[in-house]
Order: sequence, then C-alpha cells, then structure tokens
Amino acid sequence: MIKRPRRLRRNEHIRNLVRETRISKSALIYPIFIVEGEGIKEEIQSMQGQYRYSVDRLSEICEECLNAGVHNLLLFGIPSEKDEYGTGGYASDGIVQKGLIEIKEKYPDLFLITDVCMCEYTSHGHCGILNGDYVDNDETLEYLARIALSHAQAGADMVAPSDMMDGRVAKIRAVLDENDYSDIPIMSYSVKYASSFYGPFREAAGSSPAFGDRKSYQMDYHNRKEGLKEALLDIEEGADIIMVKPAMSYLDLVSEISKISNVPLATYSVSGEYAMVKSAANAGFIDEDSIVCEMAVSAFRAGSDMYITYYAKELARFIDEGRIG
Ligand code: PBG
Repeated sequence: MIKRPRRLRRNEHIRNLVRETRISKSALIYPIFIVEGEGIKEEIQSMQGQYRYSVDRLSEICEECLNAGVHNLLLFGIPSEKDEYGTGGYASDGIVQKGLIEIKEKYPDLFLITDVCMCEYTSHGHCGILNGDYVDNDETLEYLARIALSHAQAGADMVAPSDMMDGRVAKIRAVLDENDYSDIPIMSYSVKYASSFYGPFREAAGSSPAFGDRKSYQMDYHNRKEGLKEALLDIEEGADIIMVKPAMSYLDLVSEISKISNVPLATYSVSGEYAMVKSAANAGFIDEDSIVCEMAVSAFRAGSDMYITYYAKELARFIDEGRIG
C-alpha cells in the first residue's frame, strides 16, 4: 500500500495541520431579541439559554459577546403593540431603533445587523401588507424600505431583509442610496425556505401568522434550482452578502451557491436546530458541545463564509480552546 490516508490522522498536530476548514470568531453572528419594557431578561421557553432583553439590560448580553470575542449581532425586535401595517417596524422610537441607539452609544465596537421584516410587527403575523389574505408584494416593498431606512438612521451597520418579497433588495438599496446610506451593506436572506425549523423563533418573537402559512413567499423545500435563482437575483439586485436558511437541512444549497456566487455567503442555523440540540443534550442523548462544533464546521465546509447561530458565544470558546478552527 502506497497511499495510507491514516498517516495524516496519527496525532493531534498533524490532524490540525491538514484541516481543510478553518473558522474564526470573526465569522460568527449572534442573534439577540429585544423586547419593550424595563428590567427584563426572560428566558425563551423553547430556546433554553436564550433570552429576550429590554433595552436597559442589553449591556449584559453585549458584554458577554464582547468577552467571548463575538462582535457581530443580529437584532430582532418584539414590539408591545402591533397593527395591520406593522408601523412599529419603522417608528423612530421602535424597539429595534431604541436598541440600536443604546448599543451604538455604549459599544461602538459591536457590528449591528438588523433583521428587516414585518411579521413581528403586524397584527396578522405575516411578513407584509395584506390584500385579502394574500401578501401584496409591491406594496410591501415600500414598507420594507422604510424599515431598513429607519434602522440605518438609528445606527445599523448592515440591514438584513428576511421577508422573501420579490425585488426587495433593489428597493431597499435605492431608498438607502437616496438617503445617503450608500455605504450600508445589505445581507439578504436570499434562499429562505418555508421551514418548520423556525417554530421556536416564532414563540420567541410572537410572530406566528394568525392564519395560513408563509408558503406563498418563503420557498418550497423540494426546490434546489429555485434557490440558485433567488441567490442570483439578489446578487443582481445589489445584495452585498447572501444567505441560506435554515442551515443543517440545506447544506446542498450552501455548497452549490458558494460555487456560483461572487459575494460572501452566510448560513443561518435557526431556532429549531438550536432547540433540537438543546433538548437532546438535556435528555443526555448527545454531547452538546461536540454536536455544536460539528454542525458549525459542516456549514463552513459546505462553503459558508459566515455563520449565524444561537451558539456563537460557545463556538467562540471552542475556537479559543482549539477544538475547531
Ligand atoms: C422573520 C424571521 C424569522 C426568522 C428570522 N427572521 C421567522 C420566520 O420567517 O418565520 C427565523 C429565525 C430562527 O428560526 O432562528 N421573518
């Protein structure tokens, strides 16, 4: 035998030397839920270890992230009032806007990304403006652009539309540019599937649709080529970063898109993935830390350039410890 692959697996040093996938803390993004009120840090029932924070307690989680070496945050807002048009989404004193102002002032070193969507702000829980029971694409674009602009005005470093309306990247780009925010990048949730993996998030954000589902705007998980189409369309429209979501069941898309895309690619390991790992670990059926490492590395191995995960702080520690990366 001339070729013996096991030679490169003999001890830890050589294994680390020949690692094909290197990941770094700078490629991690941590989602945070901000809620109206005061003095609030409440655990999300279906996402043990994840919390909703009121603005005055945001510094606790910001410090934790900074100490862990995680500098990129993805902000979600939970308003106290909702209406048909999701007006809280673009109010200058909306929950995300207040969070942005607070964090920017205290922690200028954090990079703040905002989720741009309407489902947390609409009384019906859909990601846009309704016409009957159908989400009206073109009318919704106006609102999404308003939300993105108000985030930029409150200090967002990057906006991330997650609504899946057609043409929203171009519309948001145009409105940001008209208002002198041409330097604010757009990270588009380009390839976002209608997925049951978002279940725990909807509990966290109170954003379940009041009727029907999101299948008329989010993608059908039977489709692969359609994912490529969505990715390419968003790049054409001016997306600076594109995203595949969820992660674990969609790594085929990550792999294919990373080969055809000329912009960086993000992967979002969503709430349901987190909840599954947590509950299996709590039951003693799996080793949480090892599974978390394996899932993260698989996203990067598939071709992701960055990774959004509720386990960002833990992963940062695993990278420091040399377990991965
Ligand atoms: C808003 C949005 C959702 C998620 C991110 N942005 C929920 C949804 O589309 O229903 C899900 C994130 C997660 O599950 O962790 N549209």
